[in-house]
Amino acid sequence: MAYLEIKDFTKSFGENQVLKGIDFTLEKGEVLSIIGSSGSGKTTLLRCVNFLEKPDFGSMTVDGETLIGDGIKDTERTLRQKRLNFGLVFQSFNLFPHFTVIKNVTLAPELLLKENYAAFCKTERSKSARKEYLAAKRTEIHETGKELLAKVGLSEKAESYPWQLSGGQQQRVAIARALAMRPKVLCFDEPTSALDPELTGEVLKVIRSLKGDGRTMIIVTHEMEFAKNVSDKIIYLADGKIEDCGTPEEIFGGARSEKLNAFLASVNDKGEA
Ligand SMILES: Nc1ncnc2c1ncn2[C@@H]1O[C@H](COP(=O)(O)OP(=O)(O)OP(=O)(O)O)[C@@H](O)[C@H]1O
Ligand SMILES: [Mg+2]
Repeated sequence: MAYLEIKDFTKSFGENQVLKGIDFTLEKGEVLSIIGSSGSGKTTLLRCVNFLEKPDFGSMTVDGETLIGDGIKDTERTLRQKRLNFGLVFQSFNLFPHFTVIKNVTLAPELLLKENYAAFCKTERSKSARKEYLAAKRTEIHETGKELLAKVGLSEKAESYPWQLSGGQQQRVAIARALAMRPKVLCFDEPTSALDPELTGEVLKVIRSLKGDGRTMIIVTHEMEFAKNVSDKIIYLADGKIEDCGTPEEIFGGARSEKLNAFLASVNDKGEA
């Protein structure tokens, strides 16, 4: 069984059927890019994968565990746990403006620690053991945060605030923040489309280095050259369906469907390839 397996994802908003039966699989360490015109359903698909939308129909298995499927009912708590399998980096960074860079990266793990600490306290009565547990976990979170900032090249910005950073730097913080929760699959929704062209390179470089680390990733992108270089697989989404799917060589090698050829030509015309 594949590391990530999605079967028949279907989603409507009112009368508008946005996903019309999406199937794909991804192996551990693979990078999948999703390309397609505006409105084809790319963001909706990522949101369904990340439990931000609920598909009307379909199933999803990650690392041998079925997270979405027939008869599976979720509570707020199980949803929160399932969400932890995924990290999502948005187009618009979405950092907390009133927190420093390091706090942005460590906030979610610290909230999770609170939950875990409460569970720990139920079984551990000794005050000193509790204190030790908390101190050790906090140090670990902080150290990991610093390592992740180093990974994205922002060690020296740990104490800065988001507004003191360029868009490219903010996006790299957002990537570090997503990694801090140790997701099994890291997803990106057009991570460079809000950036000036001279800043896209530094973000793409970080994503490329994550591929080098063996991260499993799904990337919605309009950067065709990047998709060609970084992906193991590419899905071309059109009108809520997978119109074409293949290796970069297959997708960009010509002789595909008319729709895909027309899409690639239109992207080329806009100078985005
Ligand atoms: N929350 C929502 N409520 C109603 N309709 C929605 C909602 N989210 C998305 N849609 C509709 O679903 C369709 C697909 O939108 P989606 O954002 O997934 O497209 P996309 O491929 O990501 O487009 P883009 O390239 O512009 O980001 C659109 O018709 C959109 O209007
Ligand atoms: Mg979108």
